[in-house]
Amino acid sequence: MPPSLVLPSHPLRTPDLVPHPFEIERQAQSTLKGHRSLLLWFTGMSGAGKSCIANRVQAGLHGKRLHTCLLDGDRLRQGLTADLGFADNDRKENIRRTAEVGRLMVDAGVITLVCLISPFEQERRMARALFVPGDFIEIFIDAPLHVLELRDPKGLYAKARKGLIKNFTGIDSPYERPEAPEIVIDSTTSSIEQAAHTIESFLKRQRVWG
Ligand code: ADX
Repeated sequence: MPPSLVLPSHPLRTPDLVPHPFEIERQAQSTLKGHRSLLLWFTGMSGAGKSCIANRVQAGLHGKRLHTCLLDGDRLRQGLTADLGFADNDRKENIRRTAEVGRLMVDAGVITLVCLISPFEQERRMARALFVPGDFIEIFIDAPLHVLELRDPKGLYAKARKGLIKNFTGIDSPYERPEAPEIVIDSTTSSIEQAAHTIESFLKRQRVWG
């Protein structure tokens, strides 16, 4: 199995880098863990259900004794990306950093779930380009804006409508619908359990375990 390293996602500041040929690479990690690793990239607007569905998928995989890691935007923004806001360039950097961490996790043999709004097609494509084909699974959690505004579990849409939050996705910042995601979940018609089942069935067909 090749390492997931395909392209650098950012211009290098220094050309004087000579990576050490470390002995333990991805294949060894996977063999030890007893399953394949790959990255599940959940995209969709705030409140669409990305974190709830990813949480359920992770719990299901964990129950099968598979090794997982969940990288969630709200949590990452308290640490790794705490210096970033919601202007377009900050979101791009947010996506880049998270994708790079995801790549390291996949190389460590871990099934990695990323939950980021990740509103731009170009950046999602950049994230995908870090992985070999088949290792980046884009999962679009879809729900129309009027439903999200009704749900509004964090009260953020109401705040954004009042102008109290700037650059809010769907209100005054765009969300570009994925052009070719591997999986689409309509969270207005699919329960969390059904969504998790759809994703788990997909992974089973990809022979991630067994
Ligand atoms: S992303 O666009 O850069 O991918 P990310 O997923 O990390 O966004 O963060 C989204 C979370 O930040 C949302 O779930 C929401 O709780 C919160 N948030 C705060 N301000 C905004 C904003 N302006 N736009 C979208 N989400 C926001």
